[in-house]
Amino acid sequence: MEISGKRYKAFIDRQAAIKHQYSPKQAGKQHSKGKLTAQERISLLFDNDTFEEIDAFVTPADQPVEFGKVERSFGDGVIVGHGKVNGRLVFSYAQDFTIMGGSLGIVHAKKIAKIQEMAMKMGAPIIALIDSGGARIQEGVASLSGYASIFQNIINSSGIIPQISVIMGPAAGGAVYSPALTDFVFMVNHTSYMFVTGPNVVKEVLNEDVTFEALGGAEIHARKSGVAHMIYDDEENTILALKKFLSYLPSNNVENPPVVADDGSVPDINEKLINIVPDDPNKAYDVKDVINQIADRNSFLEISELFGASLVTGFARLKGKTIGIIANQPKVLAGVLDIDSSTKGARFIRFCDAFNIPLLTLEDVPGFLPGIDQEHAGIIRHGAKLLFAYSEATVPKITVILRKAYGGAYIVMNSKSLGGDFVFAWPTAEIAVMGPDGAVAILYRKELAESKDPAELKKELVKKYRDKIANPFIADESGYIDEVIDPATTRKKIVSAFEALNNKWIKVPSRKHGNMPL
Ligand code: HXC
Repeated sequence: MEISGKRYKAFIDRQAAIKHQYSPKQAGKQHSKGKLTAQERISLLFDNDTFEEIDAFVTPADQPVEFGKVERSFGDGVIVGHGKVNGRLVFSYAQDFTIMGGSLGIVHAKKIAKIQEMAMKMGAPIIALIDSGGARIQEGVASLSGYASIFQNIINSSGIIPQISVIMGPAAGGAVYSPALTDFVFMVNHTSYMFVTGPNVVKEVLNEDVTFEALGGAEIHARKSGVAHMIYDDEENTILALKKFLSYLPSNNVENPPVVADDGSVPDINEKLINIVPDDPNKAYDVKDVINQIADRNSFLEISELFGASLVTGFARLKGKTIGIIANQPKVLAGVLDIDSSTKGARFIRFCDAFNIPLLTLEDVPGFLPGIDQEHAGIIRHGAKLLFAYSEATVPKITVILRKAYGGAYIVMNSKSLGGDFVFAWPTAEIAVMGPDGAVAILYRKELAESKDPAELKKELVKKYRDKIANPFIADESGYIDEVIDPATTRKKIVSAFEALNNKWIKVPSRKHGNMPL
């Protein structure tokens, strides 16, 4: 009795000690930078009173440190555990910048690896809340090895459980590859940054001056590099958005995404769809207006909004079920496919395919972006990624051709012959090898050169081409698409097509893996 009493007191003392580890001064340092503490982030993420921490009492490795010092602390600078997010099991780790800059020593790494392995075993998503100075310098190769095991676990879990990284402070050096390997990267504007080599090294090596923000801030990664998929102005909104984001995803690759109730406010026959695409084929419109008239009300959640913006990607719900939408955006570069939009689309499609999310493609694409820059930067290789991803995907795939569907871009955007399960076209669709201007210039070069009024002749020929060749009826009559539909019926058609595809099953021959053109 006495022993257990002593033990119990020791237990209580230990609990008290860990509470005292986190001083208001430490929290204040985080708050003064516009950041929350790791504990605050965890409480925001998880449903009330559901988070269970493990390994809270582990201490840093007891190895001799020849250089600097390793702070004795409980937990070694990272909180790991599991809990419920909107009622569903989620695993997470949150790095604590107040302890040695959230740097990753071997014990810190082992904690992360342990929770990663648990998430994989339980088939539940894992969320990394990253705020770290990277590999712990004092622990040398041990911390590098720790990173390697984390990377290996991410790769082992890839396509099996959703893995999301939220950058809430620094992510520097090789450490950036941990988020880069996960499915989605969220960043907080102005307080998070990611780079392989920081401003000091840039200055030393290239003699260039650059700020943290301009080199690797959230805006740069969302707009230019494409590393960040989602960015928000503060941590609270980032975590709220993450929780909403999770509601679209299944917990693992053998589950279907959760189904929510549809409020029925978007009618299956929707006349608003008739007038969105302008009569003038050269006039732009916002494809998101089409999406919002097809998907359940307010269900569209755009991914990578600022990057490769000539292609829109995102999750939505149709009668309460998650779908992935890929849509050319005529409002940006006329909806052309360039390097950024191709790689963005390919990665999104592969995520959806891995996690049983059916794909809806809305097509209005004049082709691939021409030009020296794009050719030299490898539009061939990058465009091929989109082609590969579409063709390889075995989830239900439906296309609606809204307007332009020209050339290689027509094939790529989930055409029937590339494996599209249902391909519908609106009467406004223009399906042909190339756009009217290009086709007329090639087919009638001589006539145009000899004409007294080449501009008038070209106008006539373009009109003829559009009427006779670039229309959806030829493709419809020859079976290259399934049906020309009244735009107003689009939602009804798509709902019924996805229902028909509910039990789609494709047996893929066994192979180690395909060789996507990376
Ligand atoms: C050990 C570290 C650390 C690190 C920060 N600290 N980074 N300790 N190893 N990698 C400690 C600091 O010494 C300091 O301790 C505390 O954390 C807070 O750091 P500050 O520098 O005071 O904070 P701040 O001014 O906000 O600057 C943050 C920072 C900077 C920009 C992240 O600390 C920094 O540049 N750190 C190094 C980043 C880096 O290059 N890491 C290695 C990346 S390479 P005290 O005791 O003073 O509070 C890498 C390889 C991975 O990670 C390979 C994977 C394959």
